[in-house]
Amino acid sequence: MLLSGQDAAAIDRAAEALAAGELVAFPTETVYGLGARADDDAAVAKIFALKGRPADHPLIVHVLDRADALVFAASLNDAAERLIAAFWPGPLTLIVPRAPGIAEAAAAGQGSVGLRCPAHPVARQLLAAARERGVHGVAGPSANRFGRISPTRAQHVVDDFGADLLVLDGGACDVGIESSIVDCSGRAPALLRPGQIERGRIEAALAAPLAERGADSPRASGTLEAHYAPRAKLRLMPAGMLNTALQMLGDSALKLAVYSRTVPLPPGSRLARRVMPDAPERAAHELFAALRELDALGLDLIWVEEPPADAAWDGVRDRLARAAAA
Ligand code: TXA
Ligand code: MG
Repeated sequence: MLLSGQDAAAIDRAAEALAAGELVAFPTETVYGLGARADDDAAVAKIFALKGRPADHPLIVHVLDRADALVFAASLNDAAERLIAAFWPGPLTLIVPRAPGIAEAAAAGQGSVGLRCPAHPVARQLLAAARERGVHGVAGPSANRFGRISPTRAQHVVDDFGADLLVLDGGACDVGIESSIVDCSGRAPALLRPGQIERGRIEAALAAPLAERGADSPRASGTLEAHYAPRAKLRLMPAGMLNTALQMLGDSALKLAVYSRTVPLPPGSRLARRVMPDAPERAAHELFAALRELDALGLDLIWVEEPPADAAWDGVRDRLARAAAA
């Protein structure tokens, strides 16, 4: 059931559902989340069941503010405090030590918990209305089936889960790729997943370089090699190689779509092409919707031009590399 996030009655209804242990899909500035109250292991189990997500992959807990973060965190170290001050509310998730006895299922039993304070007005209204009903955190992975492309529009959520799920519609997500994740659970802070907030800005807020993620860094499913997979096989190519491959293809019958920034289709080609924007923020904003659209054409292959190598493209490059690894 798709409800408008502009409608105060819909927000209340969604908050009631969360308080009662039901699932609600909601917009954030990054992607849509599939939410359940984080303090209720039975409610959280419904997320794992619906997504088809393995029970040992921890979920992020969404909170309204730092005070509610302290309901779930055992402590916040200096790095966590600095990042909260610099980037919350916003597209940044912190892995911190978990307070004992809470959000066990959401954290998949780990001693740490992922906390994120979203900036999207509908997410914030939902969290505020839920807090009035005694809910201090909403566990929520991206609202897609496990391993598939994250949803950046309410319709994407309906496409994955059908019309029975309560979905708050907040329009197209601004950022378009999932939050940056920084591990602040003990060791020197490390970037587990790149997002819109560039590495350099995180290091500036920390006044220290980020550590490399170590073999002992917490596991994150968003950091699995193969993730974000379209049904078609996705292949990433440098511009020159893509151009040559398209020229050589001629009129062959490959069922192929192209997602490129600088490489045009050969003259007369009837292939489907989507243009990747030149600005990295625009490219991130459109990435998952573009992949879902190209995938919906039912073709065998999607050839994608490699994005530029600079840091501003880290998030988009990461998601495309994972999609190609699937
Ligand atoms: O932007 C986002 O982060 C979106 C929106 C909905 O907030 N959420 C999202 O959730 O991307 P999800 O579950 O698809 O990705 C969260 C990532 C997963 O890779 C998970 O393994 C990792 O965060 N994670 C969560 N808690 C963790 C923990 N305690 N330790 C290590 N990794 C954790
Ligand atoms: Mg996800």
